[in-house]
Amino acid sequence: MDPQELLQKYRDLQAYVGWTPSDAGRVRSTVAVLEPHLPEIVDDFYAEIEKHPQARKVISGGAEQIVRLKGTLTTWLRQLLGGDYDLEYVLRRWQVGYRHVEIGLDQVFANVALARIRLHIAGILRTRWPGDQAELAATRDSLDKLLDLEMALINGAYQAEFAARQQRVERLVAIGQVAGGIAHELRNPLNVIKTSVYYLTNARSVSPEKTKEHLERIEKQVTTADSVITALSNYARLPSPTLRPFPLEQVVREALEAVEPPDNIQVQVDLPPALPPVLADLDQVQIVFLNLFRNAYEAMPQGGALRISATDGDGHVEVAVTDTGDGIPPEVLKRIMEPFHSTKSRGIGLGLAISRSIVDRNQGTLKAFSEPGRGATFKLRLKSADRVPEQKEVNSGPS
Ligand code: HEM
Repeated sequence: MDPQELLQKYRDLQAYVGWTPSDAGRVRSTVAVLEPHLPEIVDDFYAEIEKHPQARKVISGGAEQIVRLKGTLTTWLRQLLGGDYDLEYVLRRWQVGYRHVEIGLDQVFANVALARIRLHIAGILRTRWPGDQAELAATRDSLDKLLDLEMALINGAYQAEFAARQQRVERLVAIGQVAGGIAHELRNPLNVIKTSVYYLTNARSVSPEKTKEHLERIEKQVTTADSVITALSNYARLPSPTLRPFPLEQVVREALEAVEPPDNIQVQVDLPPALPPVLADLDQVQIVFLNLFRNAYEAMPQGGALRISATDGDGHVEVAVTDTGDGIPPEVLKRIMEPFHSTKSRGIGLGLAISRSIVDRNQGTLKAFSEPGRGATFKLRLKSADRVPEQKEVNSGPS
């Protein structure tokens, strides 16, 4: 977490609970009363932990560690009551929250432990407070605000760490998927090559025609394996898009020319003449359309219709690419844009993953809709160039 961002967030949270310098003054006034009782608060804190195995288990260093922890908690309490609540304070508090995540302390124990400190302090103040009751009530309100801010920081640290952990897990899952996909895609050509090499090496007398046939087969499989690797490196190294305004109709027509529809598929382009230009990378959007059209043709081996329509509004243009194929079952639909999630016998299942990645980088969205048996629609939403006339030429820079 960026320190300045963290401080800013803390200031914002302080404003939320109505924290003022008078609150800090009132909290500081409790030091004289509470200081002699700090050992008692700290002892109670660790005695309670002992009673809860799920909390206790994170203390792996035995009595020695508890002695050390008592020292750190005492310092924590002193800083809490007399703190300046500045950048250093906030960072140290965040670090404490983070440390608990690291050692695997369940968040709920951090919360109840804080509640226990709050109650203990309140009990001491109730019996030892030298001033009047109104002042005590105001002081307890100030302490409540401060401890709620502590709780927010602790929970924030947990949340940030969980999110980072989740991202790491997702990245690992994606790597696993890609690795599995590559293995699957390469195994087939390698097996064919192996069989041909085995034949050429071991057959008694191989006619020149047979030799030629096997060498050609090997060459074809090497090309297939090579295309898997090329598609993969294209996926991994998509260049940053250069966003420029352009009319969608042009790209749709060019993509339709590049991947001509089979004879048994009728294509209907239904783009309103007043459709505003979009702001995106023309070449990259073309790849998306190529993939969507190819995909639609493959979904209709018995023939059918492909319809391309569009609407605009809300600063965006949305193009719908609809086929009349068999549709996509819900469990496939959920994962259809993940790498190597191909249900097709051909293709290597990267077309939609690449398209989605391109659209993300072009600040758009790509979504698939389908009712099994009733075809599928892919909706591509891009920024309309009309909504940002001052950004006629934008390079989104490296991402
Ligand atoms: C809101 C309540 C809590 C506060 C204010 C607190 C305070 C602290 C502080 C100041 C540290 C030192 C952090 C650092 O390394 O910079 C720490 C670490 C630690 N806390 Fe807590 N703690 C709380 C709850 C708990 C609970 C419920 C447990 C349960 C066992 C626990 C166990 C530990 C352990 C094991 C460490 C690591 C100590 C080490 O590095 O040896 N804490 N805590």
